[in-house]
Amino acid sequence: MSASKLLHRVNRLKGELNIPGDKSISHRAVMFGSIAEGVTEIEHFLMGADCLSTVSCFQKMGVKIEVTDEKVIVHGKGYQGLKEPQEILDVGNSGTTTRLMLGILAGTPFHSCVIGDESIAKRPMSRVTNPLRRMGAHIEGREDGNFTPLAIRGGHLKAIEYTSPVASAQVKSAILLAGLQSNSELTTVIEPHKSRDHTERMLRAFGVEVNEDETTASIRGGQTLVGTSIFVPGDISSAAFFLVAGAIVPNSQITLNKVGVNPTRTGIIEVLNRMGANISINEQPGNAFEPIAQIKVETSRLKGITIEGDLIPKLIDEIPVIALLATQAEGDTIIKDAHELKVKETNRIDTVVTELKKLGAIIEPTDDGMIIKGKTPLKGGVAVSSHGDHRIGMMLGVASCITEEPIDLQDAEAISVSYPNFFSDLNSLSKNV
Ligand code: S3P
Repeated sequence: MSASKLLHRVNRLKGELNIPGDKSISHRAVMFGSIAEGVTEIEHFLMGADCLSTVSCFQKMGVKIEVTDEKVIVHGKGYQGLKEPQEILDVGNSGTTTRLMLGILAGTPFHSCVIGDESIAKRPMSRVTNPLRRMGAHIEGREDGNFTPLAIRGGHLKAIEYTSPVASAQVKSAILLAGLQSNSELTTVIEPHKSRDHTERMLRAFGVEVNEDETTASIRGGQTLVGTSIFVPGDISSAAFFLVAGAIVPNSQITLNKVGVNPTRTGIIEVLNRMGANISINEQPGNAFEPIAQIKVETSRLKGITIEGDLIPKLIDEIPVIALLATQAEGDTIIKDAHELKVKETNRIDTVVTELKKLGAIIEPTDDGMIIKGKTPLKGGVAVSSHGDHRIGMMLGVASCITEEPIDLQDAEAISVSYPNFFSDLNSLSKNV
């Protein structure tokens, strides 16, 4: 049964929030902890459905993982500690679980089956299954290994140099994780633009040598990961909803603490700055391998801009909420080079345009993005849908703060994938008058 939620306009948003842990980093901490030797303790882990899918998959491969309110503790026994799963590995809605785990399964000498939900079944996997096959993995799936369900028999892997047609951290990470299990040769991934580098940074925290420069990452096979302690920064992709809310809701002032500001993820900050937002960033101490900061935002007069090129991978998950931001900016905002939006949890060019149009936005799809004409008052008084996509749901949640009439959000529960307490955090800010 899908839940619907009636959402009302707010007068202002004021206060401080601690944003939940970063989804990308939480997934990696569990996976790398599972293939490391010894114990890994993870603090500020994201208890969202996606990351819990990763926990459950690795538990099914025999890894002891304790989940408490404060910490996740992973008892890794190295790659050799992974056991053939008796059950299907269910990744739920999580593309990161699917693609990174395939990189690990590619080298494990056993059989496994990977399945996910309806959305996962539509997302292209040949971007990882093809290079992993080249390295020696046996992978079968619908349409020649492009779609789940997938069956994998890991094998003896050889290193490759791979030029990826897409800037994708999931593709890069899957190949690096497979490369780690190969002979002692160098595996190299070359991308058209730099994608997020959490894998490279975290592998170093686990004692592995990884080289990276602007668009190339490489790793030598045969290295051992050693268990460690990880503090997961707040997710800038979750913070983005409140950064936009603070900028577009009148009389607002929001402070977000300990947000991850890895430069491969801060495209949203660049966009807010270029659009003229009142935003300030203060680096905070706290993490050896990922920078964190306090970010403050206030109601702002905004202007439209063009967003393109190598900025796109730095804000790909933020485009739904950036489209909303653009409806409140004077002039045109053009988003291009973002074809990848079509293969996210939904086709986000379609879902963003459809849902924002329902609210009265002037927005048109293009082949690789969208064009938004601002500034437009958003009317509301209609039913909208997340389409089962957490980020579309949260974007609409933020939109409801400024619509003239309430909106009825269908499929609101999709938000639990990355931010189970999103509405209670939003409400806490609207109550502080
Ligand atoms: C992610 C990489 C990005 C991003 C996704 C998480 C990751 O996907 O959209 O939400 O954790 O590596 P792509 O690698 O497909 O660009």
